Amino acid sequence: MVTTQSEMGRNRTGIATSPKLTEEMIAGVNEFSPSPVGGDESVIAKIREDYARDAEPLGSVPPPMSVKGVAKAALRGVKGERPTQFVDKLGERLAFERTGVRLYEALISKFDVSGGFDGGPTRAELEQIQREEYEHFRMLVEAVEQTGGDPTVVTPSADLHATMSSGILAVMVDPRTSFTQCLEAALLAELADNAAWEALAELASQGGDDALAQRFLAAQQEEVLHLANVKAWLAAAQGRSVP
Ligand SMILES: [Fe+2]
Ligand SMILES: [Fe+2]
Repeated sequence: MVTTQSEMGRNRTGIATSPKLTEEMIAGVNEFSPSPVGGDESVIAKIREDYARDAEPLGSVPPPMSVKGVAKAALRGVKGERPTQFVDKLGERLAFERTGVRLYEALISKFDVSGGFDGGPTRAELEQIQREEYEHFRMLVEAVEQTGGDPTVVTPSADLHATMSSGILAVMVDPRTSFTQCLEAALLAELADNAAWEALAELASQGGDDALAQRFLAAQQEEVLHLANVKAWLAAAQGRSVP
């Protein structure tokens, strides 16, 4: 069986490795203390706040391209809803699902190298999740087009989520990470995905888009299974009982 544990080796990141060098390091910190002398964390907090007050927002949502889209957005506005919010969140999920396909592609490469482990996924199971992520992406392209939007737009929320999940992709494509470590990255993606689909289905239903809400709920149900699977595989990898 392929080991799913990290090996014991010469890890020298802790200060206990060298008490003498630790002493010198602390002496160095005391000698070259950061400026301003006597300052504390409130100084950097103040600078962060100054930047935040002057900063531009994280992008914008473009106006709908079709007359029908403009009418729909206006209707949401009249009903007291946030007309740009739905478009923003659609763009976010679309980008995330597209990245999801690539995440699973990278995960499958890791599987091929490791050959998997007892209680872990088969290649076919990973391929099925990847296919479902792709289908979700295609459905969202259609949904964006229906609202008169452009599916290639990076909306502010898409930008936000891409930045947040950039670490997940970095882990997946790092040649040093193991298949099991990449499953942990998949867990993070699936947790976020589950919550986001739930929110998107509710927003669609609030906007009176019942047909769309149903399709989103169906996608969310698939995401629930993705999450349950990844959790079970990780439990098997770590020798825990399957949740
Ligand atoms: Fe997904
Ligand atoms: Fe998923």
